[in-house]
Amino acid sequence: MVEFDEAEVAQPDSRDDTTLALRIAKKETVASEIWAFELVSANDAELPAFTPGAHIRIRVPNGELRKYSLCNAPADHSRYIITVKRDEQGRGGSVSLIDEASVGQTLHAQAPDNAFELVEDPGSLILIAGGIGITPILSMIRSLGEEPSVPWTLYYLTREAQDTAYRELLAAAPYGSRIVFHHSQEQHERFDLWPVLEKPNKGHVYCCGPRGLMKDVRDMSGHWSNSRIHFESFVEGGERKPDDKPFTVTLARSGRSLEVPVGKSILEVLHAAGVAVPCSCESGTCGTCRTHMLEGTADHRDMVLMPEEQDDQIMVCVSRAVSERLVLDL
Ligand code: FES
Repeated sequence: MVEFDEAEVAQPDSRDDTTLALRIAKKETVASEIWAFELVSANDAELPAFTPGAHIRIRVPNGELRKYSLCNAPADHSRYIITVKRDEQGRGGSVSLIDEASVGQTLHAQAPDNAFELVEDPGSLILIAGGIGITPILSMIRSLGEEPSVPWTLYYLTREAQDTAYRELLAAAPYGSRIVFHHSQEQHERFDLWPVLEKPNKGHVYCCGPRGLMKDVRDMSGHWSNSRIHFESFVEGGERKPDDKPFTVTLARSGRSLEVPVGKSILEVLHAAGVAVPCSCESGTCGTCRTHMLEGTADHRDMVLMPEEQDDQIMVCVSRAVSERLVLDL
């Protein structure tokens, strides 16, 4: 592990809103290649409150801004706990945070936001976590308490027991009886979610995990009311594909054309050009950045649009173009 002193930590610049100074009070492993960070106020200011499912964006030591779910109970106002999986194949944020950030160091973050909000009176809850996708769901479970008024079941799907963060905590009382653990590598098969989702009910489904899992859940829940299925993703800007190509977006109202290079989302390009487009999750799950498309063919990578909406709408935070140009109603 590389030790950094305060001077080497990326500082917030005037162009962003990472106004929260958070000191790392504790850093510990909670499963193979997974670390939990306990963050407290670096200047004794009160931490902004958060709701179950919320996340914060943190400026990690390599200077990137990365999104992490808060996994402690929202009633715990003294700290934020984030849990991070070291992903060598990722964009470098998790490796930077785990390898370069140490106890005592100050990180800067944005205030909590929530694009995976637990609805009021959900009726019942089916919670589906794939791997590190347990993190926002853990804060939900904690907020429901030891004697929840809402019946819930968690399907916690990982490859092996050793990479199952918080396994011991969750397997014990009071949670254990409500949780189905499945380790695909040890059980030599993927968990079949169809029996779970086959019969829609008046409750809600919350799913966080790898895109393949979320896609399966979306495909299996097409007969549920759309408003009862909720997704959270950590892949901001959308998945990268080897055959991604640059393309042009033209803004119909001004006639401006902007180039979207490989590795940048349409949303990033629009924001850099000063075009205001509302956004929240930046990972194709919340629906906030829905934009009308007047011309062109999109390569849809979101979890929001229904097939009948895909011809003339696009989630600009993750989706790209099949055609060389998209004309947006902006
Ligand atoms: S910002 Fe959430 S879907 Fe684009």
